[in-house]
Amino acid sequence: MTAHRSTLLMLLLASATTALAVENDQSMAGVENPARARVNYMLNCQGCHGPTGSGMADGTVPDMSGYLARYLHVEGGREFLVRVPGSANAGITPAALAEVLNWMLETMDAEHLPADFAPYRAEEVEALRSQPLQDVVTTRAALLTRLADLDLERR
Ligand code: HEC
Repeated sequence: MTAHRSTLLMLLLASATTALAVENDQSMAGVENPARARVNYMLNCQGCHGPTGSGMADGTVPDMSGYLARYLHVEGGREFLVRVPGSANAGITPAALAEVLNWMLETMDAEHLPADFAPYRAEEVEALRSQPLQDVVTTRAALLTRLADLDLERR
């Protein structure tokens, strides 16, 4: 590991530890280690999705904050969150990806989590990510139509 990379990791871990004080206040289902989940998010997802999941201002990456868990209310939504390329192709293990997704759902959009939410588990994630979406745009548009029909309140 280069000196530059280890310094970057130390900075990331330091900020993750600070955030942990907040996250530890309530335990998160399916998140064994919130600090590890945050660091995995920072290293693998944040570059596109931003620190809070708000995406890119130019609209190329969608805003997930206050929105992400809504997908769990429509058929195909749970699968979509794993099969979308950013998730499916991430260079982390199925267990780490399951933890990151659970962490994202609970930190970015706890408000819309279904009451019967069952956290992602490694086995489910491994099976789903082996079938990455070929038609992301069409699949996403269909899900958003189903969501609009549901008329869940937007925060
Ligand atoms: C190279 C940029 C990029 C990276 C890195 C990335 N994503 Fe994404 N992500 C996107 C884009 C763009 C979309 C919108 C759907 C699409 O076009 O793929 C998206 C959509 C998503 C969605 C569905 C939300 C929605 O409204 O479409 C989830 C969940 C998601 N990403 C999770 C992740 C996770 C988890 C990681 C890290 C392990 C990650 N992404 C890394 C660009 C990225």
